[in-house]
Amino acid sequence: MNYKSDFPIFENRPDLIYFDNGASSQKPQAVIDAVSKFYEESNSNIHRGPHFLAEEATIMYKNTRRTVADFIGAQKPEEIIFTKNATEAINLVARTYGEMLNEHDVVVLSRLEHHANIVPWLQLKERKGIELRFLDLTDDGNIYLNTDLIDEKVKLVSISGMSNALGTITDLPPIIEAAHDVGAKVLIDASQLAVHRQINVHQLDVDFLVMTGHKLYGPTGIGVLYGKEKLLRSMPPFLGGGDMIREVTTEGFSPTELPNKFEAGTPNIAGAVGLKVAIDYMFKIGFSKIQKVEHELTGHLLDKLTSLPFIKIIGPTENKSRGCLVSFTMENVHPHDIAEGLSSKNICIRAGQHCAQPLMDTYNLPAVARISLAFYNTKEEIDVSCEVLTDIYHYFN
Ligand SMILES: Cc1ncc(COP(=O)(O)O)c(C=O)c1O
Repeated sequence: MNYKSDFPIFENRPDLIYFDNGASSQKPQAVIDAVSKFYEESNSNIHRGPHFLAEEATIMYKNTRRTVADFIGAQKPEEIIFTKNATEAINLVARTYGEMLNEHDVVVLSRLEHHANIVPWLQLKERKGIELRFLDLTDDGNIYLNTDLIDEKVKLVSISGMSNALGTITDLPPIIEAAHDVGAKVLIDASQLAVHRQINVHQLDVDFLVMTGHKLYGPTGIGVLYGKEKLLRSMPPFLGGGDMIREVTTEGFSPTELPNKFEAGTPNIAGAVGLKVAIDYMFKIGFSKIQKVEHELTGHLLDKLTSLPFIKIIGPTENKSRGCLVSFTMENVHPHDIAEGLSSKNICIRAGQHCAQPLMDTYNLPAVARISLAFYNTKEEIDVSCEVLTDIYHYFN
C-alpha cells in the first residue's frame, strides 16, 4: 500500500524524501481540504454569534473535542482542552496545577525530556521554590524508575511517553503506579507517542496527557491537554479573557465550566477542524497497520545503519520497545554536515540537540543526526539515504 498518494507534497515534490516526521509530519489532502472548506463555507467565530454560521462552526469545533476524547479514551469531551501545541499544554498545567504547589513539593521529570517538559517546571521552581528531581536513564536509553525519588513529597511526575531524541518508548504503567502510590499526579508528554501508538488515558489512569496536532498529521497551532475532570475542576484558570468566564464585574470575575474555563479567547477553529480529519484519517488506516508498517521500516533502518561502520546509533539498536526514529552520529562528521549533505539530495532529516539538552549532556554529545519515519516512508528511501550517508562520510574522510 502506498500511502504517499494521500499526501500532496509528495506529488508536488517528487524527489522529496521526508525523514523529519518527529519534528512535524506532512498533511494528507483530506486535512488540507477540510481546513480550506471550513474557511470557504463555514467560517465564523464560535460560541458567540447567535446565527447559523456560528452554530455550524461551534458544532465542528465541538465534534473535534469528541473525536479527540475517543482517540485517547477520555471519559468525557470536557476533559479535552485545546491549546496551541503541546508546549502550551504543559505550560498550562505548570501555571495552574503548578500554582497550587509550594516550596516543600517535588516535581519529578526524567533526563530524556524535551525542553517543553523541562523549562515550564524550571520556571515553576523559580516562582514557587519547588524541588525538581530527574529520573536517570538505563543503558539502552529508557527511563529508569528509581522509586527512591518518588516519595510523599512528590506531587507530579511528568514524563515523555516516547523520546524525541532516542526513540525509546517508556514503560508507563509502573511509573504511573509508583506515582499514584504516593498520591502524586502523572502527566504524560505524548507528543511523539500518540502518533505511533494507540493510547487509552482511562486504562493507563494518567491524570494529564498532552499532544500536538502538527505531528499527528494535523495543522499547526492546535494542541491538546487531557486532564481528569475532577482535577481540571480543582485547578485555577490559565489565561484570562473572553469565553472563560461566568461573570465579570469591575471588581472581579468567576470562571466558567470545563472546557471553556481553560480556553480564553478565540481558539484555532480551523486547526481543530483539520485535527479531527487527521485523527479520522489515522483511524481509517488503523493503528495496528501504522505500527506494523513503521516497525518494519524501523527494522530496515536499524539494519542499514548498523551495517555502516562509521555510524554510531545513539539509543537502542534493537527494534523493540522503540518508535520509528533513530538518532546517530558519524565518525569525524558533524551532524549539521550530515543534514546538509542529505538536504542537498532532497532528503530532510534533523540535526542538533533536539530540544533535549540535558539528554545530550547525559550522553556527552553536542548534537546528533535524527531520521524520524512515518508510515508513508519506504524501504527504498532508506536505502537511498544510506547510500548518500556513505558518500557524505567519504567526502569528509
Ligand atoms: C517529546 C516532545 N514533547 C514536546 C514537544 C513540543 O511540541 P510543540 O512544539 O508542538 O509544542 C515536542 C516537539 O518536538 C516533542 O518531541
